This record gives sequence, C-alpha cells and structure tokens, in this order.
Amino acid sequence: MGITFPEGFLWGTATSAPQFEGASTTGGKAEHVWDYWYKKTPELFHNQVGPEHTSDFYHNVDRDMEGMKQLKLNSFRTSISWSRLMPDGSQVNEEAVRFYRYLFKSLHNNGIKPIVNLYHFDMPLSFHKKGGWESRETVFAYSHYACTAFSLFGDLVEDWVTFNEPIVPIEMGYLNDKHLPAIYDMKKAVKAAYHTMLAHAMAVKEFRRQSGVKIGIILNLSPVYPKSDSSADRMAADYADLFFNRSFLDPAVKGTYPDELINWTKELGIVPPVAKEDLAIIKENTVDFLGVNYYQPRRVQQPVKRENGLSLDAYYSSYEWPERRINPYRGWEIYEKGLYDIAVRIKEEYGNLPWFVAENGIGVEGEERFADHNGDIQDDYRIEFISEHLKWLYKGITEGSNCYGYHVWTFVDNWSWLNAYKNRYGLFRLDLNTKERQIKKSGKWFRVLASENELPE
Ligand code: NOJ
Repeated sequence: MGITFPEGFLWGTATSAPQFEGASTTGGKAEHVWDYWYKKTPELFHNQVGPEHTSDFYHNVDRDMEGMKQLKLNSFRTSISWSRLMPDGSQVNEEAVRFYRYLFKSLHNNGIKPIVNLYHFDMPLSFHKKGGWESRETVFAYSHYACTAFSLFGDLVEDWVTFNEPIVPIEMGYLNDKHLPAIYDMKKAVKAAYHTMLAHAMAVKEFRRQSGVKIGIILNLSPVYPKSDSSADRMAADYADLFFNRSFLDPAVKGTYPDELINWTKELGIVPPVAKEDLAIIKENTVDFLGVNYYQPRRVQQPVKRENGLSLDAYYSSYEWPERRINPYRGWEIYEKGLYDIAVRIKEEYGNLPWFVAENGIGVEGEERFADHNGDIQDDYRIEFISEHLKWLYKGITEGSNCYGYHVWTFVDNWSWLNAYKNRYGLFRLDLNTKERQIKKSGKWFRVLASENELPE
C-alpha cells in the first residue's frame, strides 16, 4: 500500500520569471538587477552564463504546457516580472499583459492552478539605482505594481504570493556579496528587510480592497538545530531562528514583530524608520496561506569568534553535525525530517495556517554523467530525495498539519543567479544550445505520483 495524499492535493513544479522566461531584452522588458550585474561583471557568473540564457519560456509557453500535462501537474508556481510588466515603473506594457494572460489562460484550460508570485529577487534596475528596498519610494512603487497586477490578472489567478524568500536578498545582498548591492551593512539590512515587509503588507491591503481570493508569502523556513542542549547553544539557535525565520514569519502570519527582534535593533541602534501608520498596516494585513521552501536545516552553536553585535557572527556560528548526510553533488545537507518539523511548527505556533511546499528539490552538478545511452538522465537520487521528504510531510499531515500541496524545484533546468547552470534541478533536462527539453527519470516518476495522488512504497 502506498501513501495516499488528501484529495485535491496540489502537485506542482515551481519556477520564477527571471530564471525561466528569458527574453530579457525583448517584449518591452526593462533591465533588472541581474541583467545589469551580468553586463557589468560576467566573470562573477558560473561559466559566464547570464540571465538571458534560460529555457526561453517566453517563446515556449505552448511547448512547456505540453510538458506540464505530461507531468500531470495540477499546479504551477511561477512569478511575474515587475520590469516586464511595468518597465518604466508606472506604465503598463501591453505586450507583457498579453503574455501573462495567455499563460494563465493556458494553465486554466489545462486544469493547472497558477500560483503567482510578484517578486523573485528581481529588483528593477531603476528602483535599485534609487536605493532598492532601502528606499520608501520602492515600497510605494511595489504596492502600485502589485495593485496593477491584481486588477490585470485577478480574473485568471486566485492564488497570489507577494514575495519569494524575502530574507535571501537581505542576507545575500547586505551581509554577503551574492546579490546586489553586495555590501556588509547590518543597519541597511534591517532597513531593507523592514521595507520589504511593509511592501508585502501594503500589497495585501490592496488585495483585500480588490476582494481578491487568497494571498500569501513564500518563506524559506529552515529549522534551526542547536549543537547541544547548553543554554549558550540554544540561545544561538534562537537568534538564528529570529533572524532567518521569524523576522518575516511573525509579521506575515501574526501581524507583529517578535519583541526580541525589536529589542535587538534598539540595543544596537539600528531601528528601521517606522512611520506612524506602518505597524497598523502590518498588523491588519496578515496572510491567508504560507508557501514554504525547504532544502536544508541550519545547525548552529554558540559564537566561536569574537565579533561586535553588528556582525551575525556575534550571535551564532554554524557547525557540521557529525551525523549529517550531504548531497554529494552539491554539498548541502539532506535532512528530510526538517520538513516534518516545519509542519508541526506551523500547526502549533502559527495557528495551523494552510500552507504548501513551494519548493523542494535537489541540485546536481555535472548531471550529464547520469545520462543513459539514449541521453535520458537516470536521476534516482532525485526520486529518493522527493520520496523521503514526502514521507515526512505525510506524517505531518496525518498529525493534523494543514499542508495542501507540494512543488518540486523545478520544472525545466533553470538559470540560478551567480551559479547559473552549475546545479541542475529540473524534472526536464535543458540543452542550453538547442533549448530542447528532455524528461528525466524523475519526471516520469513524478507523473505517476501526481496522477495517482499516491506515493508508492
Ligand atoms: C530558492 C530560490 O527561490 C530559487 O530562486 C533558487 O534557484 C532555488 N532556491 C535553488 O537554489
């Protein structure tokens, strides 16, 4: 007997406009930060492959719709490109409207639910130059963009998402050099994070005003496990959880910031610029659902370096769990139970809010070495990865967690920021030269899972 998922469970794949659409300089699209960064410093990108080298979904909707049907998907999670829809920040690009309406209609006609995200790390260049999320102007511009998208596509899309992994551009752009602006500045990080959250809440407010159906946010929730039960290690884990999980989770779901986070910004003198009405907007505009991206947990111990409070190293250090299993092709830890721990946490600490897995998957470097004599990728490791996560997810569901769907990252191998195509994640392999898509063994397996709604044992 296999494991049967609840009726109507969503089986989908996830992707994003900047990683998948291509047509980065056509169709009236303006530049976003990744187009700009690549033009300036192509050598930073793996094999110097930039964001124009995608599977070119923009020109391949019909072909990819056949692929989605082949996988028996009933859900497709993607995003709208802000710089395509509103290239100058205010006027609507009619060609983009035609493209997205065609896509959403095609999904409907094929019984596939579109779950549409508004922002996936793709800050329009014009707003980046004005300070990006550090600037309140970007907050208002984003809210205007969101409002425009709801009214243009609200008849075709019921399930909206404001942001994907909003903590990532903050961590990677303000405390690291993997996203622009690629600086280390805690004060700016806090300000940009606060503005992102405010933009989210303002978009939700617009959505409610337009009587939209359902709106949520997608967070990369990584359970944080302390090295030991000592109070110093547990405190380190609490800090990491506060920064990386609760800083968006609490305001999005509960409408409030954790006291610990507020006190921390006060102690360090990095309180963001809160206008009088902001906190009421955040309080009143919580989400209907959560999307959760899960890849790996965080393992932490008490800080091992002497740092001042303006560095995260002052609060925790990462450590390698001796029992960890590592994805040999990518280096990330594989810990399936983390997904169950997330399910339980949402149930117990976040009001058992409805949620779905918005991303889960395994990236593999040099995946062509797993091709058989027909060139078909025999990715048994991906089948095992997905199955084992689904078993833990199922356990969470049987214990009452309100999870209603699972999305694999990703559909067709896609472009991944500075890593470009270093790690392949797709259920379809992409030939970068010919743009041909070839279903992998995992794609055929996923088709059975999605059509039967059952995980074979
Ligand atoms: C999460 C992000 O949403 C996506 O953009 C990225 O490519 C995948 N993780 C894989 O790293």
